[in-house]
Amino acid sequence: MLVCDRIVRRDPSPAAEGAVRLRVALLGYGQVGSAVARLAARSGAGPGAAVDIIGALVRSTASRSACCPLTTEAATLVESGPDVLVEALGGAEPARQIVLSALERGIPVVSANKTLIATHADELLAAAERGGTTLRYEAAVIAGVPFLGTLGRRPYAGACRRIEAVLNGTTNFILSELEAGAPDFATALADAQRRGYAEPNPAKDVSGADAAEKLVVLLRHLGGLNATVSDIPTSGIGGITRPDLVSARDFGGTLKPVAFADWSDGCATAFVGPAFVPATHPLSTLHGADNGIRVYSEHLPPVLFAGAGAGPDVTAATILDDVIEATEATSSANHSASRPAFASPDRRDRDCRPQAARRTSWFVRLESKDPLPAAEIADLFASYGVWVHRTTDWSRRTALPTTWLLTHPCAGTSAHAALSALSSATGCIASRWPSLESGR
Ligand SMILES: NC(=O)c1ccc[n+]([C@@H]2O[C@H](COP(=O)([O-])OP(=O)(O)OC[C@H]3O[C@@H](n4cnc5c(N)ncnc54)[C@H](OP(=O)(O)O)[C@@H]3O)[C@@H](O)[C@H]2O)c1
Repeated sequence: MLVCDRIVRRDPSPAAEGAVRLRVALLGYGQVGSAVARLAARSGAGPGAAVDIIGALVRSTASRSACCPLTTEAATLVESGPDVLVEALGGAEPARQIVLSALERGIPVVSANKTLIATHADELLAAAERGGTTLRYEAAVIAGVPFLGTLGRRPYAGACRRIEAVLNGTTNFILSELEAGAPDFATALADAQRRGYAEPNPAKDVSGADAAEKLVVLLRHLGGLNATVSDIPTSGIGGITRPDLVSARDFGGTLKPVAFADWSDGCATAFVGPAFVPATHPLSTLHGADNGIRVYSEHLPPVLFAGAGAGPDVTAATILDDVIEATEATSSANHSASRPAFASPDRRDRDCRPQAARRTSWFVRLESKDPLPAAEIADLFASYGVWVHRTTDWSRRTALPTTWLLTHPCAGTSAHAALSALSSATGCIASRWPSLESGR
């Protein structure tokens, strides 16, 4: 294996002699862990520090080659006293237990694992505090775009009150493909799997569960809010069709897999799921597997961070930056960057009860055995305080005659009541998705 050859033959260059050398242990030698080892080997003495991977934890060492010693004994790795432990196992356990034991011993930890951070951040950050060390997780959300650390260190820019984001590349790719002409969801998903954007089992991406975990991490990091995944109303992209995207374009927008949260008035409103995004909104320009987050700060105009959401190589670069920052923070006894500087105790203790009932426009699909008169739909909606802004003609190129509407802003409860009444009165099948504001 070429990279292993390079490790063995690496000749410390004169420039490397005075450089800092970090002994790093890896939990996991899968896509991310092995990419970290390769990048560390390629990078030699810099930038920042020479990183020596002293070992990696795996489930099985049988018949495989690697650039560093592999082990199935987590305790041995932790007890070897690495300068930093990098966690790239995935899932909550055994990652939680191993990371806890490292933090308690004062070993800085860098994690790429959104599930771990979404479910156990409080416990882990408390252990880091007790151990006098730091926990970093920049790669857990939009791995290729370093924004968590930036916002965490900058109290004015980081004083957020709302975020609108595309946090999952697989679903953004699928909806982009449908918009670009893929005939149906299954074709777009198969293409995503062929290109390596989607797992063989894409359920966690397609259902929105992956994005919901990332939103929980963001709510805690940027808003100091104690949310759990079950607090976030989450819907998947499975029901979205190409005609939906064509109609969204007719209304001057598109459909994106959105993660939204607003905590400007104390309690958070949040959702994860497909949403109508006007063409004037920067998230509408994120195509393919790209991710992005628009951050609304109390003190600055909205800022968009966008780029690669995942991929072993970009994730490895972000992890190694975290490794260097973690050791700098630990040696300077400045552990505060492991949590947002502005997340004072009063903010962190605030509970989050996200609710779906926010006031917004709605993108609506109506399917009916027989087309319904537009004026009657508008009248019924108006009786519930829902005003129709745009509507299409009935399409007969779908399984059932179908029309799409865009409403003016109204409460989610009103939209729900209007659509339920219409369904009861006519037997039509109604689906609705929220809209983001124009973003201007
Ligand atoms: N892939 C990406 O682009 C990306 C981007 C950002 C963040 N992440 C996050 O990074 C983490 C790792 O992702 P990945 O894609 O590298 O996963 P992966 O390819 O499945 O690798 C997981 C590694 O962890 C090891 N492992 C898992 N459970 C274990 C256990 N109970 N005991 C010992 N070893 C165990 C596996 O061992 P074996 O090799 O023996 O199976 C494997 O080496 C996840 O949290 C993921 O969400 C991934």
